[in-house]
Amino acid sequence: MKIAILGSGGREHALAFSISNSKQTKEIYCIPGNAGTSKIAQNISIDLNDFKKIYKFLNKKKIDLVVVGPEEPLVNGIVDYLEKLNIKVFGPNKLASQLEGSKIFTKKICKKYNIPTASFGVFKNQEESNKYIETAKHPLVIKADNLAAGKGVYICKNKDESFSAVKEIFGGKFGDAKNILFEEFLEGEEMSYFIITDGITIKNFGSAQDHKRVGEGDTGKNTGGMGAYSPSRLMNEDLEKKILKKIIKPTLKGIAELGTKYKGFLYAGLMIVNNEPYLIEYNVRMGDPECQTIVPKLNTDIVDIILSCVNEKLEEINILWNNKKSICVVLCSKGYPEVYKKNVEIKNFNKLILDNNNYLFHAGTKNENNQILAIGGRVLNFVSLSDDFFEGRKNIHSNIELLNWNEGFFRKDIAFKVIKK
Ligand code: AMP
Ligand code: GLY
Repeated sequence: MKIAILGSGGREHALAFSISNSKQTKEIYCIPGNAGTSKIAQNISIDLNDFKKIYKFLNKKKIDLVVVGPEEPLVNGIVDYLEKLNIKVFGPNKLASQLEGSKIFTKKICKKYNIPTASFGVFKNQEESNKYIETAKHPLVIKADNLAAGKGVYICKNKDESFSAVKEIFGGKFGDAKNILFEEFLEGEEMSYFIITDGITIKNFGSAQDHKRVGEGDTGKNTGGMGAYSPSRLMNEDLEKKILKKIIKPTLKGIAELGTKYKGFLYAGLMIVNNEPYLIEYNVRMGDPECQTIVPKLNTDIVDIILSCVNEKLEEINILWNNKKSICVVLCSKGYPEVYKKNVEIKNFNKLILDNNNYLFHAGTKNENNQILAIGGRVLNFVSLSDDFFEGRKNIHSNIELLNWNEGFFRKDIAFKVIKK
C-alpha cells in the first residue's frame, strides 16, 4: 500500500516508523514530515491547511490510505473533505472532532450523559466573566473555547489572576475565542488514556503518564510534554472499567446521537481522584509524547489495525502488546517553551545505540544539505523499553550523553513517581 501521514512531530515519526514495519506498506509519504521521517519516507512540503493541494498530491500518487496525526486538520474537516473525494482516511470527521475543537461542545455532552468532569460555567464577554470571578472559589480554572495548542488554560490562584486571564482570552491572545469556560479545580493526578474505535467497537490503545511542566519535580511553565511513561502507574482493571463505562462509552453514544460516528484514536485526558476518573479534556488524536511511548509496545501490525478501523471491522482484530515498560524523554532546544535558537546543527547521530528496545523519534528537525538542524522547541524523543523504568531511563540518558548536543536540555526526572532509586 501507499500510505501518507500528515504531520511533522515525534508522534508522526513514531507512526511512520511503525507503519514502515508493516508487511502491507510499500511506500510512505510524510506531509510535511521531519528529518527523522525523511529516512523512512518521502517528505512532501505542503501546508496542512491547504486541503486542495493535499488532495491533488494524494490523487496523483494514488495513495491508498491517509493517517492524520495532529488535531488541526481534523478539526478543520480534512476527513470529510477527503472521504467525499473517495480517499481512505484514518481519523475522526469534523463534527466528532469538536470533542477537541470546542471544550464547550464536550462539556455539553458531559452534562447530557452524566459524564464525571469538573463543574463548569460558560460566559460570552468580559463583563459577565468578571462578575462571576468576584464570588468564585479559587483556585479557578479558566479556558478559551477554541484550539489553542494546549495553551489556552489558566489555573488562577486568586481574583487578580482570573481577571487578567479573562482579559487575555477576550483580548485575542488565542485567536477568536467567543466563549470562555470556568471550571472547578480538580485535585488529583492526571493520566492519558487512549482508545481506538471504528464507531462500533472500542479497543484499548494504552495509557501513559505525561510530564507537561518544563522543570524537574513538575515545576515551571507548561509545555507540549517533556516525556512520558507507559503504562501509567494509576492504571488498574477497576479504573479502566470505570473510564469505559462512565466516560468513553457515553461520549461515543453522544456522538452517535448527533448522527455521526467517531472513528480513529481518542485520547482522554483524565484526572484520577481516589481511583475515580474525571474527564479534563478530549483530544481527537494520539498524544505527543505518549504516541512515541506507546507505539513501540505494539505487537500487532499497525496498518492492519488502522485499516480494520477505517473499514469498520475493528471487532475482528486482536491488538497485542508486549508487557515491557516504556519511557520517553524529550530533548528540547535551550529556552523552550519560550525563546530558543533555530537552525542549530545536531551531530553524532551515528554514535547512538538504537535497537529493538531503544528508539529515536525526531520532532522539530529538518534535513538541509546533509546536516540535521533543530528547528523546533521539542527536538528529539528518546524511547526505551525494558523490564523496569529505571533501566529504560538509564539507557536514554546514556544515549543523550552520546549525542552530546550542547544546545539542548531535558528533564532528568521523567517517571520520577515510579523510580524510587
Ligand atoms: P487542558 O488543555 O484542558 O488539558 O488543560 C491543560 C492542563 O490544565 C491540564 O493538563 C491540567 O493539568 C490542567 N487542568 C485543566 N483543567 C483542570 C481542572 N478542572 N482542574 C485541575 N487542573 C486542570
Ligand atoms: N501530551 C499532550 C498532548 O498530546 O496533548
